[in-house]
Amino acid sequence: MRNFNSEHQERTLSMRQVLETMMWLCLSLALLLAAVKAEESPREQKPAPYAGEMNKKFADPNGDIEQFVKRFESEGRDVYAKRQSITRAVGLQRGNAVADIGAGTGLFTQLFAEQVGPEGIVYAVDIGPGFLRYIAERAKQHGHERIVKTVLNSHDSAELPAGSIDVAFLCNTYHHFEKPEKMLASIHRALRPGGRLIIIDFDLRKDSSEFVRQRARAPKEVYYREIAAAGFEAVKAKDAPAISDNFYGEFLRVERKP
Ligand SMILES: C[S@@+](CC[C@H](N)C(=O)[O-])C[C@H]1O[C@@H](n2cnc3c(N)ncnc32)[C@H](O)[C@@H]1O
Repeated sequence: MRNFNSEHQERTLSMRQVLETMMWLCLSLALLLAAVKAEESPREQKPAPYAGEMNKKFADPNGDIEQFVKRFESEGRDVYAKRQSITRAVGLQRGNAVADIGAGTGLFTQLFAEQVGPEGIVYAVDIGPGFLRYIAERAKQHGHERIVKTVLNSHDSAELPAGSIDVAFLCNTYHHFEKPEKMLASIHRALRPGGRLIIIDFDLRKDSSEFVRQRARAPKEVYYREIAAAGFEAVKAKDAPAISDNFYGEFLRVERKP
């Protein structure tokens, strides 16, 4: 009798342990899924602290632009060193309308102006009025003042007219977006049917350098999901150069489901 009781107690105890363990596993799984979902929700996204902090400096109307010219336009920056092959890969046609969103010092604005020619238009879009003044001055020096139009935008919108551009180009800008969902929606509106979105940005991987870790908000797969949710389809980029620390992504505007 004593044996039967202790066996019964042991079985009840191990059943309870199994049930408790299962409950803990379910709870942990639910918490893990909630954390992953929160991390991926575009609504909640903010740039990495360093990139967000930099936005204040970029938007400062009295910021030191020469300091940014040295930083963005140096051969040690691979995006700068490969600027010609990047411009070729973007593949603009004469007469195209393109938006260089987060144009900075206008490194690509200038090169795009040469590609689209006098029948085309390049919108240099930025949250920094100092950058835009610098770009307008540079465009004048190159005789591109009728091609380059500067646009001061906000974190909510690219401030471009609907259906006004063939290509939206973002170089090292996406990770600075404080409201990626709103920016992407406004870029989608600004693009003509069949328009292209090109994004070059930091490729965060397990073995990424501290430099990339400080700046990137998420791995590119997360960005790609946000971009797809905004009505874009990833396509294979033609002749895209390999750029150290960065990925080159090309997307087609597709109709958004109502
Ligand atoms: C790292 S810089 C890149 C500049 C330039 N594209 C280049 O590659 O040389 C990032 C730029 O994005 C701009 N920026 C940040 N948030 C923006 C937003 N929501 N819309 C437009 N520009 C933005 C900043 O002012 C800054 O000029």
